[in-house]
Amino acid sequence: MFPYRLVTVFILAQLASAADAQSQAATTVLGYKEWKSIGCRGDSTSGRALKHLVAVASRSMTVESCLDACAVDEYALGGVEYGDECYCGNALLYAYGTSEACNKPCSGNTSEICGGPHALNVYQYADTPFTTGPASSLGSYKRWDLWGCLEELFPFGPRLLPHRPIVPIPAEKMTVERCLDGCQAAGYNAAGLEYGQECFCDSIDDGAQEAPSGWESTSNFECNYPCLANATEICGGSIMEGGIARARLTAYVTCAFYGTC
Ligand SMILES: *[C@@H]1O[C@H](CO)[C@@H](O)[C@H](O)[C@H]1NC(C)=O
Ligand SMILES: *[C@@H]1O[C@H](CO)[C@@H](O)[C@H](O)[C@H]1NC(C)=O
Repeated sequence: MFPYRLVTVFILAQLASAADAQSQAATTVLGYKEWKSIGCRGDSTSGRALKHLVAVASRSMTVESCLDACAVDEYALGGVEYGDECYCGNALLYAYGTSEACNKPCSGNTSEICGGPHALNVYQYADTPFTTGPASSLGSYKRWDLWGCLEELFPFGPRLLPHRPIVPIPAEKMTVERCLDGCQAAGYNAAGLEYGQECFCDSIDDGAQEAPSGWESTSNFECNYPCLANATEICGGSIMEGGIARARLTAYVTCAFYGTC
């Protein structure tokens, strides 16, 4: 009896010290410069919570090197995943919620945790406000009303809405409002957003009230991409058709089209 107990105690002591060593070995970095941890969040390869990929499978990944990279382009958020991946973004896209899977040491400093499988350690820069999903379509804004979800013809034909705002809107700053303001400033009365990050404009007949030629509406479910700078808004989408990704536009027209202004 006695030797058994001794062995048990010995093993337990070893387990305890192994657990200690491990927790000492890798801890979550809570803050760095202006950045502060906002926890461990879920992620998915089918739609990244933070859109801008800085590095994947980097052998020198640390929380600090990732956040320094995100700070260069003034992102609101930065995150490390799976030990060696780094992402930045201005919105926490989709709505994956919190995760418990941030448990991988960083490839460049094993004393730090760098997320885990489908799990991001997310950091916020200097309390910069940000939005998080889920996203839905913005119905109206100023003179603009939602038309619906349209089939993009490009790259198999010309763009459905061939024009752009005069002042380019960077992908990472894209919101529905910025696109509509941009098209309005350029004198257009139709606008469409695509891939979460692109804004297109066109001129259609005022007062026409029916679909301009070439506008094929599809199910609203096919417009399913959050805008890169506002995770609560839809900015187009895409579906797979015969193994090919086909883009969808979230389209808006002005009250002039309906003759209501
Ligand atoms: C590794 O990370 C720990 C914890 O963040 C930090 O104290 C240490 O300075 C880092 N080591 C190197 C070489 O950067
Ligand atoms: C995000 O979109 C929502 C819905 O359109 C809007 O109410 C909110 O002000 C937007 N937030 C930012 C930061 O753009």
